[in-house]
Amino acid sequence: MSKINLLVLLLLGTFLWQCQQPEPVNPDSVAIIPQPTEIQTGNGYFTLSPKTAIVFNSKDEEVASVAAYLQEVLQPATGFTLDTRSSGRRNVIQLVIDKSIVGNLGVYKLQSSPAKVEISAPDATGLFYGVQTLRQLLPVEIEQPTVQSGISWDIPSVTVFDEPRFQYRGLHLDVARHFFPVSFIKKYIDLLAFHKMNKFHWHLTDDQGWRIEIKSYPLLGEIAAVRNGTLIGHGGRPPFEYDNIPYGGYYTHDEIREIVKYAEARYITVIPEIDFPGHTIGVLAAYPNLGCTGGPYEVAKRWGVFDDVLCAGNEEVFTFLENVFLEVMDLFPSEYIHVGGDECPKTRWKACPKCQARMKTENLHDEDELQSWFMHRIEKFLNNHDRKIIGWDEITEGGLSPTATVMYWRGWMKDVPYEVAEKGNFMIMTPSSHLYLDHYQNDPEEEPMAICCFSDLENVYSYEPIPEGFTPEQEKLVLGAQANLWTEYMKTSEHVEYMAYPRAVALAEVVWTDKSLKNYDDFVRRLMVHLKRLDGMNVNYFDKEFR
Ligand code: ACM
Ligand code: ZN
Repeated sequence: MSKINLLVLLLLGTFLWQCQQPEPVNPDSVAIIPQPTEIQTGNGYFTLSPKTAIVFNSKDEEVASVAAYLQEVLQPATGFTLDTRSSGRRNVIQLVIDKSIVGNLGVYKLQSSPAKVEISAPDATGLFYGVQTLRQLLPVEIEQPTVQSGISWDIPSVTVFDEPRFQYRGLHLDVARHFFPVSFIKKYIDLLAFHKMNKFHWHLTDDQGWRIEIKSYPLLGEIAAVRNGTLIGHGGRPPFEYDNIPYGGYYTHDEIREIVKYAEARYITVIPEIDFPGHTIGVLAAYPNLGCTGGPYEVAKRWGVFDDVLCAGNEEVFTFLENVFLEVMDLFPSEYIHVGGDECPKTRWKACPKCQARMKTENLHDEDELQSWFMHRIEKFLNNHDRKIIGWDEITEGGLSPTATVMYWRGWMKDVPYEVAEKGNFMIMTPSSHLYLDHYQNDPEEEPMAICCFSDLENVYSYEPIPEGFTPEQEKLVLGAQANLWTEYMKTSEHVEYMAYPRAVALAEVVWTDKSLKNYDDFVRRLMVHLKRLDGMNVNYFDKEFR
């Protein structure tokens, strides 16, 4: 062969070899929220086909259920029901338990190449989060509810190591002011899982409606769950105008068990809240003997804080609460039970002979101490059943129990987290300054009526859960953060979504991603892709202004 021919052959060979080399993945084409701890892009793509198999050790039931979940989420848009099996090397998505991977609970690795995708983690929790990342590596159409034609289901080659920053990553929902169907609660939970959140704080009781069936107190469902009308317009001051339409509903035990199970399969703990001693006028309407004056009482039709609260001097109140909590504990396996404790006026207690007598016998100096005594008594009951309490930050007033976890909400009370840290209690951050998603997210003139205030996407994103000046030891007391959705002004599920999203997406990054990796501009870049995924899930997010 001549030298020329050899050269041509060599060039041709190099050309052909290069043609077969997969293209490097453009890092900007990857948009995962929350941003993973480490991510490197490689070369080429793994393409999902009807022949792709999900491979895992079928003897491990938890892993098997993650595999089934993965199969289920990939099915609607692709139309593929992927085979699940225990071995296979190529064209597989492999789920592997690898105890040598260390990190915070939820840690996982994901490695994708043209031949296969491997998700590995020390436990099924991590595998589940790896699956959420996998979903976000696929084309956005993967979240559509029906078969999408003409899409190449490509997953870019990446190497991901990822772990959460905080152990408590929560979203709350008030179903007392407005009531939402089981189907919506499940969708809310699905969205939490998609964002690697793990706590659903379910605010089940309030002045305007009691929303959980309690078999031992049927009047809660008949009376406390129904109000005789709802305030029209924005209610701060009288005169109040009502629509006079009865409004009510509650979740049955069966529905609650179904939701708890649904959440559990998505690595989400449902934390029920039974709010007392305040925010209980609905209870008093059903059982007037539990109040200081004996009534009559009416389930609240407007929003706010009411003077009529559970009587602290009446033993029947404690019998009532203990029986309620026995049913609550039976329904909710959560180690934490939220006991409210917020916004309890002391007006009635000050004038009530029974409450005053209680203060004397218990040697309490003021009504704040009486509330603290009240909370401790129920806390002990719950502790005796191996549960722990979370209370709103008013539980710090009048003596904080050493074992209570404080949910910090009064953003204007800047000293509270420092006082809690001083005492050594755990805390969860939900400050009204950043994480109240019932606040306006845009110019009020352009928005449906909200309660007040302003907290846009960037404000939520900018939130740092660790208060300035905390020592490394104190940092460990901050379990995480949560955003709250109070629904006075949200009558429909669509409106709840509009207030929650995309601000809850920002929250997900606040609680998962390391502080050093946060970058609002890059978040907005990824969000623009992410919103297309939310479109597929039919999420009614706010999309007017993100900068
Ligand atoms: C609260 O917003 N009352 C906790
Ligand atoms: Zn009383």
